[in-house]
Amino acid sequence: MLPNWLLIPALLCCVVNVSGQFGPFKQDSGYVTVRRGAHMFYWLFYTTADERSYTDRPLVVWLQGGPGGSSTGIGNFEILGPLDLSLQERNYTWVKNFNVLFIDNPVGTGYSYVDDWSFLTTTNDQIAVDFVNLMRGFYEKHAEFEGVPLYIYGQSYGGKMAVDMGIRMHEAEQAGTIRSNLRGIAMGNAWIHPVDLTLTWGPLLLAAGLVDETGYQNIQAAAREAERLFDEGLYAQSTDAWAATQTQVFRATHNVDFYNILTKTQGFGPDTRTDYEIARELTIRDMSYSAMSRQEEYDLNFLMNGPVKEALGIPAHVRWGSLSNAVFDQQRGDFMKPVTEGIEKLLNETDIIVQKYNGNLDLICDTPGQMLWMDRLQWAGAEGYRSAPRQPIWENNRLEGYSKSYGNLRFFWINMAGHSVPRDNPAGSNAFLRDMTSFG
Ligand SMILES: *[C@@H]1O[C@H](CO)[C@@H](O)[C@H](O)[C@H]1NC(C)=O
Ligand SMILES: *[C@@H]1O[C@H](CO)[C@@H](O)[C@H](O)[C@H]1NC(C)=O
Repeated sequence: MLPNWLLIPALLCCVVNVSGQFGPFKQDSGYVTVRRGAHMFYWLFYTTADERSYTDRPLVVWLQGGPGGSSTGIGNFEILGPLDLSLQERNYTWVKNFNVLFIDNPVGTGYSYVDDWSFLTTTNDQIAVDFVNLMRGFYEKHAEFEGVPLYIYGQSYGGKMAVDMGIRMHEAEQAGTIRSNLRGIAMGNAWIHPVDLTLTWGPLLLAAGLVDETGYQNIQAAAREAERLFDEGLYAQSTDAWAATQTQVFRATHNVDFYNILTKTQGFGPDTRTDYEIARELTIRDMSYSAMSRQEEYDLNFLMNGPVKEALGIPAHVRWGSLSNAVFDQQRGDFMKPVTEGIEKLLNETDIIVQKYNGNLDLICDTPGQMLWMDRLQWAGAEGYRSAPRQPIWENNRLEGYSKSYGNLRFFWINMAGHSVPRDNPAGSNAFLRDMTSFG
């Protein structure tokens, strides 16, 4: 058989041109029918690292949050892909070190679509099962990646999804129904234990001087209502109470940026939407509004429904992002459920590395909330983790954060970063990428 590096250039020139290409970077994209009526879109960028073959570098999956946020749009153009929203090369793009696979999931997100709304997912586990099928389809087309170390990086709700994906992928690997090489999952500012997160907004805002005692009390009253409903098993109602808590935060802080408490926001003005609708839009966006540079040349929605859609050959009937609200709504009963048991399961039963990283300036998935469930985790290494020393992260003579690890559990606190750590602090991101993959 010919070595990969001989075959690839020829393949790239032809296959890519046929299936469509956007921008100068080597790429492949396509759909996998993950279930009857459910079509999932992926967009792969080959690493630009100077290696004999691109398969000498890991395959990193990037997932956006929401649920309903598009990885191929937000993650790619706004966070870590090779081109930014002005279509300029991003100097810290993850493509420099890794093959990056953006996936629009759950189905219905971004360019992914369903033949009927009844095919949308309603639980995190269904999302994970669809993901395994997506990867099966991907490996069918790209068998050269089968043995290549695979890492799943998810931001926000994507981090919650990554936990169940890890479990389902591991099961499939054990059963021999997929030939992947999953080595680690990472949860970036993730929606792991929603009640813990919601309950810590008030204390964080009070400590940061962003609310007074009255504002704090109002936020906590709303958060405790979300907790009460959750404890009673009224999960969808708990989601509504979470949304009402967000409204209390906006009111008390005069519209703090939920994705970075130190950036400035423009006021929203009069808003006739419900708490739920506002909170839904915010989480699907999965990006700091105020951090989005006003100098960027293109609007993401324009790009994805115009030039990118055309270049990639996306079917005309698919409108990028048009089903996001439906995707979110279908998940409403699952939204407030934690995945901490799944994390314990990964630690107890697999050798998959479980990495948690958190930008310290985020509010929605705040660091104090992550501390609560981390401290409650029960697994063989729980005591070892608790007493492990916390190490500083020095990059180029700057303190970018701290890390703590024991066995397969890793936690990275990242300074000067809000919700989207790879974008806010590329140097700090290198630290956790290197720890996980040995590259970066
Ligand atoms: C990337 O560019 C930004 C400004 O455009 C600069 O501040 C930063 O230092 C650059 N980073 C690297 C790794 O070159
Ligand atoms: C993981 O193992 C610990 C014991 O080390 C046990 O207490 C915990 O319940 C286990 N969790 C799961 C989800 O299996």
